[in-house]
Amino acid sequence: MGLKVLLVGGGGREHALAWKLAQSPLLGQLYCAPGNAGIAEVAECVPLGAEDVGGLLAFARRAGIDLTVVGPEAPLVLGLADAFRQAGLKVFGPSKRAAQIEGSKALAKEIMAGSGIPTARFRVCGTPAQAREAARELGPPVVVKADGLAAGKGVVVAATLEEADRAISQAMEEAAFGASGLKVVVEERLSGAEASLLAITDGRRALPLLPARDYKRALDGDRGPNTGGMGSICPLPEGGPPLDMLSGLILLPTLNALAGRGCPFCGLLYAGLMLTAEGPKVLEFNARFGDPETQAILPLLESDLLEVLAAAVQGCLEGVGLRWSPGFAVCVVLASGGYPGPYKTGFEVSGLDRARASPGALVFHAGTARGPGGGVVTSGGRVLGVTALGATPAQARERAYAAAACIEFGGLQRRNDIGGEGMPL
Ligand SMILES: Nc1ncnc2c1ncn2[C@@H]1O[C@H](COP(=O)(O)OP(=O)(O)O)[C@@H](O)[C@H]1O
Ligand SMILES: [Mg+2]
Repeated sequence: MGLKVLLVGGGGREHALAWKLAQSPLLGQLYCAPGNAGIAEVAECVPLGAEDVGGLLAFARRAGIDLTVVGPEAPLVLGLADAFRQAGLKVFGPSKRAAQIEGSKALAKEIMAGSGIPTARFRVCGTPAQAREAARELGPPVVVKADGLAAGKGVVVAATLEEADRAISQAMEEAAFGASGLKVVVEERLSGAEASLLAITDGRRALPLLPARDYKRALDGDRGPNTGGMGSICPLPEGGPPLDMLSGLILLPTLNALAGRGCPFCGLLYAGLMLTAEGPKVLEFNARFGDPETQAILPLLESDLLEVLAAAVQGCLEGVGLRWSPGFAVCVVLASGGYPGPYKTGFEVSGLDRARASPGALVFHAGTARGPGGGVVTSGGRVLGVTALGATPAQARERAYAAAACIEFGGLQRRNDIGGEGMPL
């Protein structure tokens, strides 16, 4: 009898995870809550919200789930993994306390400072006066970061002290991010290319995935507002630091520090890096797979993901290695017109089959649903991620855009420079 797996989430990242898990010979049945129209092709979708911890736990018990894999951070921060473990269920995802490495930027910085992990010089500030003083001490330019989760909007890179003061007031005095901004981290601004380093961990050991890069801004040339991510490439076209070095410098000390605090991290540890002239430095940690990095990373993974995740939750990553396909993957996100601002949904999506048949291409659904007529319709800001594999970054990119060009829906918006020459710096 194969394993019964519950995947929590319903975006592009979860479609890529579901697609990969579904290929495992160890799999018996794959469920996804809540899933989306694309995930429904490889998993049985369960109509439960990703943050409905009680409902998910009841379902997992009733269905006899052997392994739960958590996509988004919100259920982790709400304590999903703790509730499941207390009930004797295996879950790939950190405890509420360990997920604070993402949920509190102040905690992440304290851990880095305490373990000698390279990061920007910083101050954790509990009052606006402290924060203004820190901005003057460390810069300008400085970066002001709300301590808690702020849906990607809590970070301001401030070129001048006026901008820094404005960001400090917004977070701390106007409470623009609610309780998340009552404490802020002020840090020096670094420069360099960014990279996402994801690793599967069992609490003690880290199995790094190939480094990737995501494209956060809405418009070509890295202009426009920040989004959840408009595309990604894997591995880094310029090579980047060796994985062993990154493990020793960043991942293992972080795992040791969390274990030392009594909250070992079992799940996906994501380090957002800046590759500076002085070497890689950590901008932040996340406690889950990156979206859309996952849609470019997993298509290159040859190993059985389910086998690796099952080993991680047993605390048995020792001796486990990962095999990768040569070449590159580029993922282009197709978004709703207006995203990340207000947008309309319910548009019919056409050309999905043609896109999927395009050379080297895979189509991952994010904000999609079945419409009244049975066709796929848009239901979110980021609608689809079109990934393609190629021998070179240029080939992967050409194939991804060729496949993306097959797809149409009302208001479709995308970047045209994902994986291109002008790397986001
Ligand atoms: N110290 C820094 N120097 C320069 N840019 C930074 C720095 N910290 C963050 N950034 C920029 O801000 C973005 C968001 O910051 P990050 O810490 O990743 O927070 P979040 O993803 O929670 O918004 C980064 O991807 C990077 O572009
Ligand atoms: Mg980030």
